Amino acid sequence: MEKLAIIGGKRLTGEVEISGAKNAAVAMLPATVLIDGICTIDNLPDIKDVNVILEILDFLGAKIERLSPHKVRIDGRTIKSDQPPFELACKIRASYYLIGSLLGRFKEARVPMPGGCNFGTRPIDQHIKGFRSMGANLEIHNGIIDAHAENLFGNSIYLDIVSVGATLNLMFAACLASGTTRIENAAKEPHIVDVANFLNYMGADIKGAGTDVIRITGVEKLSGGEYGIIPDQIEAGTFMIATAATGGEVTIKNVIPKHLEPISAKLQEIGVEITEFDDSLHIRTPHHLTGTNIKTLPYPGFPTDLQPQIVALLSICEGVSVVTESVWDNRFQYIDEIKKMGANIKTDGHSAIIQGVHRLTGAPVKATDLRAGAALAIAGLAAHGRTELSGLESIDRGYSHFEDKIRALGGQIARITVDLKNEIADEIAN
Ligand code: EPU
Repeated sequence: MEKLAIIGGKRLTGEVEISGAKNAAVAMLPATVLIDGICTIDNLPDIKDVNVILEILDFLGAKIERLSPHKVRIDGRTIKSDQPPFELACKIRASYYLIGSLLGRFKEARVPMPGGCNFGTRPIDQHIKGFRSMGANLEIHNGIIDAHAENLFGNSIYLDIVSVGATLNLMFAACLASGTTRIENAAKEPHIVDVANFLNYMGADIKGAGTDVIRITGVEKLSGGEYGIIPDQIEAGTFMIATAATGGEVTIKNVIPKHLEPISAKLQEIGVEITEFDDSLHIRTPHHLTGTNIKTLPYPGFPTDLQPQIVALLSICEGVSVVTESVWDNRFQYIDEIKKMGANIKTDGHSAIIQGVHRLTGAPVKATDLRAGAALAIAGLAAHGRTELSGLESIDRGYSHFEDKIRALGGQIARITVDLKNEIADEIAN
């Protein structure tokens, strides 16, 4: 088994380059099913979720050429199957995007219910409601979503809840449908705009992405082209928070500062100094940081995908902070882990009440999901002593070369292989 061994207490300093956005990539790749031609996607993050989707596309019949770790050419003309393999599709959340893209292109899709991080129930009722109102029949049998449509047509769809996944999935189905689809109460995350831009480059007609009403007029065909993914807002935020937690000073390169405003605003509120440049940010941390209150919200609010990381930081800020999670039902599972490091946190329903402590201490901890893993790594970097972080599969799913980037900033972190048999024997002996 692999773990990250972290010796805390070193300030992060230097420069870090942010990779392409994970949540844009994991939507854009399934959307290539809509393209009856060749497309090239650049600035791909080098992460496991991307590899899984490329494997699925390969299985469906697309020709995949990995031009570099960050660039791929996909020829979708040869796609034959409408049924991604169960074992692969169940590994990731983003496999649900294949419902919209396969339905859009072939009017048929048989897609396993998606996997991904576990934050309690993760319904897809808004996706299903939207597909049905566009004329599709959907049934779920033995964990497979079976969708087909005689004719897919545009309609007005009001999302009862702001959903990133439903907004994109319905956008995919609408690209080749007849007439115009109007998605109301749409999500506005930066990667919604990025994926819409990508599809427009390929020949789609999408207007309004980034606002809460998106209009998609169906076209005959998407024929391909070249596109580069935007930088990852959440990876950038993770490094901003890691810098602050270690009292560091770091330039975060290859970012869109506008996308980071919800994060910069909160970090500045607690005392972090941030200077914005065109495509980079300079972060400087003074000695004292004070707690604050934060509520996660859809963009442009504070992102839920940085909630665990900011809680790790607030756990060593002076005073009491309250962090309220309003997007996911159950995204505080990591709190029991961070408490093993000495954090003083209580949860009350959707809120975490954090009494800042002077210092955390290293401990063996487990990443319960992707962002929880990043939060525990941040806690380990800030802590006194050695932390061993297990559950790395989650981190590898979504962060590109995580520990290499931290190490380049001076953080003492290394991937180690642990002999599980010895560990269990030690545990029994103790
Ligand atoms: N929801 C419904 N019904 C639906 C869809 C969503 O009730 O049909 C609810 C969810 O239960 C949740 C809220 O709406 O309470 C928002 O869910 P959303 O659909 O926006 O989430 P998602 O598309 O499944 C994506 C990201 C998540 C990120 C959320 C919110 C991907 C693959 N995942 O999930 O990213 O937390 O948007 O921004 O893009 C991560 O990167 O760590 C991650 C979990």
